[in-house]
Amino acid sequence: PSCGALERERTLAMIKPDGLSGNYSQKIKEVILQSGFDIVQEAVVRLDAERASVFYAEHSERSFFESLVKYMTSGPVLAMVLERPDAISHWRTLIGPTDARKAKTSHPNSIRAMCGLDSEKNCVHGSDSPQSAAREISFFFGDVKSVTVEHDEL
Ligand code: PPS
Repeated sequence: PSCGALERERTLAMIKPDGLSGNYSQKIKEVILQSGFDIVQEAVVRLDAERASVFYAEHSERSFFESLVKYMTSGPVLAMVLERPDAISHWRTLIGPTDARKAKTSHPNSIRAMCGLDSEKNCVHGSDSPQSAAREISFFFGDVKSVTVEHDEL
């Protein structure tokens, strides 16, 4: 038996280099909080080519892979763990279609319509399934020690 909509779920959201350099993070965080998500963890991360290739490994055979990796290493990204009921699909709906040009016409209120440019510079990422969410959250935050400031009790 499932209580569906009431079960909280986590997803991995990322503001990509063009979103950060365009100063969209504050606006995007407002949308996130107004949409009932809690931001459970966040970190500004600079990916190198090896890490970006691991993150996007499922697309390694695609023609755009090299370009995507180059773009994702062109500047820092902001990774966030978002939590609310139905977080994965809710966040995917909020960000809109992959191609930001399409988003501007078909989903004008979406985040990609607000700050994306095309299929590469599309401003934000969202996990597409529970399996991806688990993998992507641990990709950025799995090693808890590396993102937690530990204080001495003394
Ligand atoms: S597709 O075409 O349906 O497979 O697209 P999608 O699965 O949504 O895209 C997967 C990620 O690849 C990025 N992408 C691209 N990057 C560069 N150039 C081109 N042409 C391109 N097409 C898609 C896209 O932004 C997706 O990134 P994430 O971070 O997963 O949203």
